[in-house]
Amino acid sequence: MSTTPAPEQPRGHELVVVANRLPVDSRTLPDGATEWVTSPGGLVTAMESVMRTVDSGAWVGWAGSPGEAPDPFEADGMSLYPVRLEQQDVERYYEGFSNGTLWPLYHDVIVDPVFHRTWWDSYLSANRRFAEAAAPVAARGGTIWVHDYQLQLVPRMIREKRPDVRIGFFNHIPFPSVELFSQLPKRNSILRGLLGADLLGFQRESDTLNFVAAVRKLLGYHVDGTTISVPGLGAAPRREVEARTFPISIDSAAVSALTEDPDIRARAEQLRHDLGDPDKVVLGVDRLDYTKGIRHRLKAWGELLDDGAIDPHDAVMIQVATPSRERVEAYRQLRDEVELTVGRINGEHAPLGRPAVSYQHHSFDRRDMTAMYMAADVVLVTALRDGMNLVAKEYVASRPDLRGVLVLSEFAGAADELRAAVLVNPHDIDELKAAILKALAMPVEEQEEAMRSLRHQVMENDVQTWAHDFLDHLGHVGAEAQAAVPSVRLRGDEPSDPAAVDEALRTFSDVPRLLIATDFDGVLAPIVEDRDAVQPDAEALAALRDLAELPGVAVALVSGRALEDLNGHTRMPSSVVLVGSHGAEVGALPPWMQAEVLDRSSLSMTPEKEELLGTITAELRRISRAHPGAEVETKPTAAVLHTRNATGRGGHNATESALEYATSLPDVTVTPGKEVVEFAVVHTSKGVAVDALARASAADAWLYLGDDVTDESVFATAEERDVTVKVGGGDTAAGLRIADTVAAREVLQRLRELRSEQS
Ligand code: ADP
Ligand code: G6P
Repeated sequence: MSTTPAPEQPRGHELVVVANRLPVDSRTLPDGATEWVTSPGGLVTAMESVMRTVDSGAWVGWAGSPGEAPDPFEADGMSLYPVRLEQQDVERYYEGFSNGTLWPLYHDVIVDPVFHRTWWDSYLSANRRFAEAAAPVAARGGTIWVHDYQLQLVPRMIREKRPDVRIGFFNHIPFPSVELFSQLPKRNSILRGLLGADLLGFQRESDTLNFVAAVRKLLGYHVDGTTISVPGLGAAPRREVEARTFPISIDSAAVSALTEDPDIRARAEQLRHDLGDPDKVVLGVDRLDYTKGIRHRLKAWGELLDDGAIDPHDAVMIQVATPSRERVEAYRQLRDEVELTVGRINGEHAPLGRPAVSYQHHSFDRRDMTAMYMAADVVLVTALRDGMNLVAKEYVASRPDLRGVLVLSEFAGAADELRAAVLVNPHDIDELKAAILKALAMPVEEQEEAMRSLRHQVMENDVQTWAHDFLDHLGHVGAEAQAAVPSVRLRGDEPSDPAAVDEALRTFSDVPRLLIATDFDGVLAPIVEDRDAVQPDAEALAALRDLAELPGVAVALVSGRALEDLNGHTRMPSSVVLVGSHGAEVGALPPWMQAEVLDRSSLSMTPEKEELLGTITAELRRISRAHPGAEVETKPTAAVLHTRNATGRGGHNATESALEYATSLPDVTVTPGKEVVEFAVVHTSKGVAVDALARASAADAWLYLGDDVTDESVFATAEERDVTVKVGGGDTAAGLRIADTVAAREVLQRLRELRSEQS
């Protein structure tokens, strides 16, 4: 394959695929040079042909060897971004949690899943590395498509970094029943990781239903059909996530076209000749994996030879078994057993100079694979469990001559579509033997009839259609999700031009009825370590008091602090409205405000909410005890974890634990702020409160000053005439930025000056 260094992509890629493996594996040759070879497996077969047709596509993945990752490069019109995995990641994340825990569990525990806690840690950090590699390469509003069981935490990690992109996830392997899935340690983290996507795709309808059942049972989220309602975190709103079935396929036309190639036809003929021109050639093509039922197949074949039902002079079996995951114990054992069995069958049955089973333990190129399919009278797909099985579809696409018989396990995803195959239960060796004999004896007309039906299915539903369906659907569900994400208007730390701020204040103060609302900590008072020792800016408070006395002006303080606490620190007159607990507690309104506008019904506490609050408080206390310096504050409608005074990484870890816990609570509004996470059992936000106050005061426009992420819910609701001011640095949906509390005081004083001039 030809590779070149990747050119700069200043605007990013419209479509970014993230998979554990890149489509190519790097191999170091004896002379030190690097060779690139196609990576193994169905995921790469399918996605590679999709990406070849995409403009501005990128693929983020591992290049297949531990240690130093190559620089990003271009190959076949695609930009490849290698992710670095250390030897320990390969052992714990890839061989361990991915292929020692998840793979067997998701394939119905054909072998026992193994679990070690260090594997999970590595899975978490490797997933983070993939997310960190993928997030910056996507264009604004672009699409990131995450693939397969190795990367189930990536969708949520990407969402945290890039709320503007659409995120899809496709699971190439089965999703197990809820009973089996429940055995998985860290199962809820996996579900929450997946639910970071807008759209989740599965191979079979049963996989989709299993996933949805797990979400409902283990997370308790509300589910409508296969649409899941995911509670929002912080300013992020509640989201709808859709799960749906998209059976994957192959590049059917390309495979079919290869069969026209005279060289490949000649290879197919030569192959039969090399095998001694038997009447029948039976073929199996698999990665050497215990899910593929290779042992069952060899057992059936061996018994048919033992029984004399098959004459080894008439029929030969080719078993292609691609090397796979060779350092994982179950795969080592499988290889030993398969090779022992092949040796035994050949020893007992092979005619002189010819095999009874031709065993190939290496890779072939596409052309050789097609030649094998063309040479095969029967293909055996006997998987004990398989997401789809593309070999079955490749065989069908390789038979435009309508000859050949596909024996297909009902446990492969392909069995849902390829109903005209000879379907078998591979666990039943007698049934499997009977199916092989039936296939070998099938009259030509019957072969043609079945193959015509199979080809209709495979040629109509190719991988391009599959990708198009998935992305089209993601475009729809993702667009709705994006509409709910507050957009970032200002990035970085640079304050706005003072002239622009002044101009906005002038225009605003000309409006007949105003609401001036402001956050407290970080705006009217500098942030301090001991929140009880907060020192409000007396002049800023004085400006607010004065503003509240002017005609047509309503003033409100909107804080995360409990109402009582806010009142204690500000001592405002009754003309100023106090809103505490992020909107959950609203103080007395001046008589001229329309109190009925404030919908208090959602704010009231019920016995259930009291009980829930008690449980949350207990859990947060448990977290705070484990991280010295972290504290829990209780409010009438919320419990709050403060991490400002936690030591070392304790603050970070306590926050992570709290957020992890948060997503297990279906009916709680969780608001992370600066070194603080609030869990409210009534559903509101500062944005909801300011909107209600604006209506209650019949304001024509409002102005809001805020410094924290919790203030973004206010900024996000602003309309053209409203003025939104962010105090301090960081991305924000506000339209203006000022530097600090001193600048905030100046804004309030300037407003007082402008508005006083009018009265
Ligand atoms: P899985 O994804 O579990 O490996 P699939 O049957 O879905 O199973 O996909 C396997 C893919 O790998 C197919 O495209 C098949 O042609 C290809 N393949 C399998 N064995 C070999 C081999 N020895 N050489 C080249 N390609 C192979
Ligand atoms: C299956 C999985 C893929 C995986 C492939 C090869 O197709 O669904 O995610 O890449 O097998 O396995 P490997 O472990 O070699 O990547």
